[in-house]
Amino acid sequence: MYSFIVAVAVLLNLSQAFPGMAQKRNIASITGDRLTTVAEPVQARDTAAAYPPFLGKRAADVRSPCPGLNSLANHDICPRSGKGYTVPILTKCLKDGLNVGGDFALVVGTTGIGSNPNPLTLQFDLDQLDRHNIFIEHDASLSRADTIAGDNHSFNQTIWDTVLDYYTGMSDTSIPVAAKAKYNRVTTEAERDPAFFYGPVQFVLSYGETALYLSTMGDPITGVAPIEYVRALFEEERLPYQEGWKPTTTPTTLATLGAMVLELNAANGEVLPEGLILGESSLRAVFKGLDPITGAVLSPILQTISGLLGVIA
Ligand code: HEM
Ligand SMILES: *[C@@H]1O[C@H](CO)[C@@H](O)[C@H](O)[C@H]1NC(C)=O
Ligand SMILES: *[C@@H]1O[C@H](CO)[C@@H](O)[C@H](O)[C@H]1NC(C)=O
Repeated sequence: MYSFIVAVAVLLNLSQAFPGMAQKRNIASITGDRLTTVAEPVQARDTAAAYPPFLGKRAADVRSPCPGLNSLANHDICPRSGKGYTVPILTKCLKDGLNVGGDFALVVGTTGIGSNPNPLTLQFDLDQLDRHNIFIEHDASLSRADTIAGDNHSFNQTIWDTVLDYYTGMSDTSIPVAAKAKYNRVTTEAERDPAFFYGPVQFVLSYGETALYLSTMGDPITGVAPIEYVRALFEEERLPYQEGWKPTTTPTTLATLGAMVLELNAANGEVLPEGLILGESSLRAVFKGLDPITGAVLSPILQTISGLLGVIA
């Protein structure tokens, strides 16, 4: 910890002493030069066989509480080992695999790096993303048990079934139904989990996660996704090429996610924490370690990493 603080202090001093050379040049050498902010459409291929096959997890590989990252790793689109994820690696594999924009990869990558006990390595392993309520992992997940129930990490069919129940009789997702299923997870755990914690940060993140599965398995504007695609993603951590899924032609970006989060909340009527304005800026704020209401710094580590990586506004 002490050496971490010293290293940060040294880096911050350097950039203050030489404001002209500032962070930009350092960042390019640290992170590579592929920090595109808007994804280009991914080239669609003709058959499922032309896509990267499902390889799964080997004994030494690690996985996360995130079905999106686990699926990408299981196809070796993101590194199959689950280890050594940098922002350039993440930027490329989110775009190649799911047509998710570099703007999202950069801010979520910052949070991922913040979960590493040695964040100045500027990389993270998927199993470092478990840390409860510090960065991303939170209660009332769609497919994971609350931390108090023991395993906050692995897919939990019992919990996921309570989400699928909302889609009974439907073949596709929709924003209103996804929104109600998501809100039910919050009210369910608020009643039965004595340690339940769901502040503004968790509020924003959990809406973002629902928007992510609707966007990547379906459409980043309409949120309509075949339920069988969504089930493959959550239940098998597999990209549903063989069912006919392809990466969307419209990229998923912080702007599309922000807009969908607003629609989801409008559809379920969940009362916002006082002062919270949902949308793109509150998503950016939480990934940068800021309170999405006041803008106060909640995580100095994420602030430092954001600075090093050149994450702006
Ligand atoms: C871009 C593609 C991605 C998609 C489609 C995606 C999708 C999702 C979804 C649907 C959940 C909710 C799971 C649930 O509630 O049961 C989730 C959770 C999570 N995601 Fe991702 N994600 C993506 C990228 C990332 C990245 C790049 C990171 C980190 C660097 C990340 C970290 C997490 C974590 C830690 C959780 C657990 C939160 C919790 O439920 O406690 N995700 N993700
Ligand atoms: C799934 O979650 C439920 C509810 O929290 C819990 O009772 C159950 O033990 C979990 N199942 C597994 C296999 O962890
Ligand atoms: C979350 O679950 C993982 C895996 O079961 C466990 O190692 C970790 O300690 C849990 N986090 C907390 C805060 O309980």
